Amino acid sequence: MPSILIKNAQIVTMNAQEEIIQGDLLIVDDKIKSIGKDLGNQADRVIDATNKTVIPGFIQTHIHLCQTLFRGQADDLELMDWLQKRIWPLEASHDEESSYYSAMLGLGELIQSGTTTIVDMETVNHTDSAFQAMAESGIRVLAGKVMMDMGDDVPDLLLEDTAKSIQQSVDLLEKWNQYDNGRIQYAFCPRFVVSCTEELLVEVRDLSNHYNVKVHTHASENRKEIEIVEQQRGMRNIVYLDHIGLANEKLILAHCVWLDDEEKRIIKERGIKMSHCPGSNLKLASGIADVPDMLELGANLSLGADGAPCNNNLDMFNEMRMASLIQKPIHGPTIMDAKTIFRMATIGGAKAVGLEDQIGSLEVGKKADVAILDLNKFHTFPSAEVDPVPRIVYSATRADVESTIINGKIVMEKGTVKTVDRDLVLQESNKSIKRLLKRIPSIMKVSS
Ligand code: GUN
Ligand code: FE
Repeated sequence: MPSILIKNAQIVTMNAQEEIIQGDLLIVDDKIKSIGKDLGNQADRVIDATNKTVIPGFIQTHIHLCQTLFRGQADDLELMDWLQKRIWPLEASHDEESSYYSAMLGLGELIQSGTTTIVDMETVNHTDSAFQAMAESGIRVLAGKVMMDMGDDVPDLLLEDTAKSIQQSVDLLEKWNQYDNGRIQYAFCPRFVVSCTEELLVEVRDLSNHYNVKVHTHASENRKEIEIVEQQRGMRNIVYLDHIGLANEKLILAHCVWLDDEEKRIIKERGIKMSHCPGSNLKLASGIADVPDMLELGANLSLGADGAPCNNNLDMFNEMRMASLIQKPIHGPTIMDAKTIFRMATIGGAKAVGLEDQIGSLEVGKKADVAILDLNKFHTFPSAEVDPVPRIVYSATRADVESTIINGKIVMEKGTVKTVDRDLVLQESNKSIKRLLKRIPSIMKVSS
């Protein structure tokens, strides 16, 4: 079995005691075999990590790989305009090839910046191509095709027949769920209540129970969105999700910016997993989620960059820094300290995807999902007498990620992503976006 020995590192374990260990980490096959002082030199690959910092790979619980090609195509808009005027027409214009390269572009960025697991919401069509890219990239993922069977200003190519949306989701689930020994898992992804009939949402609830898979959706991101939901369904958004039986521990909700006290209580009591996306929430002018309150309630919190056209990066270092700093003027300097943030970026994400016994910390027996950081830089020094966690959260950047290991495989080394052909992907992403933009005028003819 292939083995990797990382020597002489500062290991930020994020285990229950949040221990920081100076020593070695041995990976055998896809798992962490041992952690300790001087584990010898016997491995297929020995990495000298003297003065390097080893952390659990980041877990981003809300990403849209299908939107990476749209980076820079939808700036400075608020959610509903952003969707109706830019994102939906662009998503409708995707083809198999563009979906593949959009995913590869995002995966390259994610892996290079130390993210090892994502929750990914694709678009309506061509999700198989995105799964192909995810399979090749080596990333760990919970992903699904988006489902949308109603809504205003939705291009015909995205507006689905309810039964077909469900059938296509089930077909993708049967093809990809548990692929590569569980590295890929399927999640049902109704877009948000605004885009989905009750019939669809109720069916998703039943299928999620039947297959025991997660449900991932957007919720209460924007004020207009929650107004539309209240008008259509006669209740507040999270109350509605609870009313139809979707509010349970398998539900991962992106955003949750506009919640009242009852909704906060529902999230906590039902064990819903909340994915906080500070960069996206600021750029789309959505608002600032009350994360300190949710943490105090004991809800499960994790972080995500959302899509490239609303951020415009897929970089966990950015999200960690923002998640901390945006709360301090509101709640005071001690709130959202670096440890709290780093927990959200690692073990919090693991709990969100239901893999806390396998990922999210560096512990013997867990999957080997690891990032090696080189913090020997001007912007991260001094290294003496400082806690590594605030050093990572407040000072480090993605350029400090030297290597990324996922499932025991080195997928990025010395800045080069081995599973994504950078030159090809950059070139093809340009070709793809040009082709997609040319298609938009015909796609924009919406019939209704
Ligand atoms: N709400 C519904 N769809 C989307 C999307 O694609 N991105 C974001 N940020 N919010 C959404
Ligand atoms: Fe999103």
